[in-house]
Amino acid sequence: MKEPCEVELISVTKKYGKTIAADAVSLGIRRGEFLTLLGPSGCGKTTLLRMIAGFETPDDGRVILGGEDVTGVPPYRRDVTTVFQHYALFPHLNVFANVAFGLERKGAPRDEIKKRVADALELVRLGEMEDRRSSELSGGQQQRVALARALVLEPKVLLLDEPLAALDLKLRKQMQVELKSLQRRLGISFVFVTHDQEEALTMSDRIAVLNAGVIEQLGTAEEIYERPQTEFVARFIGDSNIIDAEVDRVEEGMTVVKTGLTEFSVYGSASNVGEPVRVMVRPEKITLSADEKGILKGKIDSAVYQGESTLWKVTVEGGQELIALEQNRESAASIESRVGQRVSISWPAESAIMLKA
Ligand SMILES: Nc1ncnc2c1ncn2[C@@H]1O[C@H](COP(=O)(O)OP(=O)(O)O)[C@@H](O)[C@H]1O
Ligand SMILES: [Mg+2]
Repeated sequence: MKEPCEVELISVTKKYGKTIAADAVSLGIRRGEFLTLLGPSGCGKTTLLRMIAGFETPDDGRVILGGEDVTGVPPYRRDVTTVFQHYALFPHLNVFANVAFGLERKGAPRDEIKKRVADALELVRLGEMEDRRSSELSGGQQQRVALARALVLEPKVLLLDEPLAALDLKLRKQMQVELKSLQRRLGISFVFVTHDQEEALTMSDRIAVLNAGVIEQLGTAEEIYERPQTEFVARFIGDSNIIDAEVDRVEEGMTVVKTGLTEFSVYGSASNVGEPVRVMVRPEKITLSADEKGILKGKIDSAVYQGESTLWKVTVEGGQELIALEQNRESAASIESRVGQRVSISWPAESAIMLKA
């Protein structure tokens, strides 16, 4: 059975002069899903949100909300609300009035407004703060008021454009947990924008990684991290080693590649035998040992003691450089003494991932 989509972008394109902010993007956001748009500054995240909200009209393609084509429908007639990074509360109004604003404009009855504002403030744990002026609140409290102001309208979809970027690290972590649990309780769809990979990995049901107006990969945190499909995704999320190799042969579900004199298996299906490919291995999947059994051989260039772990730099025979991250079980002195030694380098077979050209 196909899960119902709350939001559907069908081949949506948006250009600003020569800049293609969205390049034929297709994306379905499921009912009750926490979906994150992740990518570097300028990759088109805000543009996609603004097209879902209706603040921008695509040059091409369609926007579907709750099964209805809303491509030409203005923002106030769409069942979505947006929380921005700069949440722009009215500083001279109190918390109640800030949250009530949207309902008042819609002409909701007085009693209903009271009840719904109280409920929304309860949701964001600001039940006691109705009478405070918003200028008297901390950054985190103001962001919660902005959330309540959006939630009080009971949207089917909440759009959040880097809502935590202005908060300090500790508060950001706390708000990440609160937002996620709020989304679970409400069961509505969240489309969350961030350029912070860690934030995306910890909060999302699925992540769409964007690069220059294109979705490079869409998947769960684990899929994106463990099996990136492109070099962009591999490099943008976490640390990665990229090894140049050549397709040697294809076996069941695996490809065997060759680099220098060694060959090893790689997760992913190959193109043509003899073709140059790039293979990714995460630093924490690598084990260095003194024996001769590893997949590759090399020499330790440096070791950085980091408390719980050590970051090794190793040059492989043939000249490529790899980094390895290992949990510390030795003393700093014994780690230091290994610099300059020859090592063999190994990893679990399924941790070597073939990237698309
Ligand atoms: N109103 C606009 N006029 C001109 N260029 C714009 C406009 N909005 C966005 N852009 C350009 O479109 C690209 C994508 O922007 P944006 O969606 O804001 O990216 P992000 O939110 O990922 O940082 C950028 O190159 C940006 O400069
Ligand atoms: Mg943006």
